[in-house]
Amino acid sequence: MLPSAAYVDPAVFAWEQRHFFGGGWACVGFAAELASPGDQRAVSVGEGSVLLTRDDDGDLHAFANFCRHRGHELLPCGGSAQRPSIVCPYHSWSYGLDGGLRTAKGFKGTPGFDDSKWGLVELPVTDWHGLIFVDGSGTAVSLESALADLDELVAPYEPERLVIAGRHSYDAGSNWKILTENYHECYHCPMIHPELCKVSPPKSGENYSPTGPWVGGWMDLREGMETMSLDGASLGVPLRGLDITGLRNVIYINIFPNVLLSLHPDYVMTHRLTPLAADRTLIECTWAFAPEALDKPGFDPGYAVEFWDITNRQDWGACESVQRGLSSPHAVAGPLSPDEDAVYQFVTQVARGYAGEPVWSAEAGAKIAS
Ligand code: FES
Ligand SMILES: [Fe+2]
Repeated sequence: MLPSAAYVDPAVFAWEQRHFFGGGWACVGFAAELASPGDQRAVSVGEGSVLLTRDDDGDLHAFANFCRHRGHELLPCGGSAQRPSIVCPYHSWSYGLDGGLRTAKGFKGTPGFDDSKWGLVELPVTDWHGLIFVDGSGTAVSLESALADLDELVAPYEPERLVIAGRHSYDAGSNWKILTENYHECYHCPMIHPELCKVSPPKSGENYSPTGPWVGGWMDLREGMETMSLDGASLGVPLRGLDITGLRNVIYINIFPNVLLSLHPDYVMTHRLTPLAADRTLIECTWAFAPEALDKPGFDPGYAVEFWDITNRQDWGACESVQRGLSSPHAVAGPLSPDEDAVYQFVTQVARGYAGEPVWSAEAGAKIAS
């Protein structure tokens, strides 16, 4: 395992916020949350926040969330707006949805003041299967190329077509990496997840050998079980792009650093992690279904939401205990079992990042696979 300082030391946490969350691609939400021109949202990422906009041509933009006048946030973090321009709440400078400065009260005609120099600081942004990613470094390799091998797995689920029908957010007293490591192994399942073990054998499945900045694997559903729910029954509809394999297993993917994507025969669950402190993480969890499932009379996403809410809470409880355990001054790194090979892949990714190797590069992905 990583040394315990990686989970408890505020200096390590600050480094990760700058280099992992603010220094490469990180997920900042869903494209569906910015559906119409004029939609604006501010989302925390790394040490700061980004302002996302949808412009009149339907294009997404991401800007560092600070005004070029004296630095006021353009929207408070977590806030949203719908209007044809971006207006700073402090002295009312306004910008187009593409970030160009439109008006700066009192500056008109001022010698030497060139509007074109005072646009917002724009960052690369991309919509990958309905998830929005922002590259805080501005220099990372293209997300699409880095995730090319993952695309083959995810595309049949068409996450961009699905509709979010359930949401939960959790404030967990645990380091973000403990949560991710826990996600990557089912060695713990027989001990803490009786409901999960009823529908999916904990020792089933395998992990992938990715060539990009992601880690993951699949698990089978037990015979007669249609999906992950308390009784194994689905009250939705199977996703239309899946073959027989997709209908009989669940794929668990972590895209570095902050998305957990769980692909089920009839829904996609997404956990988006926002680290708040070395020992605290906000987890936003969503459940998305095919539009035709939502059209079913009386459709209720509860069968999926309740199952995972129970399982999530079992996991967070374990992760919070790990956090407390690792806070001991006597804590030392332990060994990983063969069933924890995906955890090994993940901590190797993290360790390579600590060693100064960019995680978001094709070369880094190849090394992770080896
Ligand atoms: S800080 Fe934005 S207008 Fe002054
Ligand atoms: Fe678990």
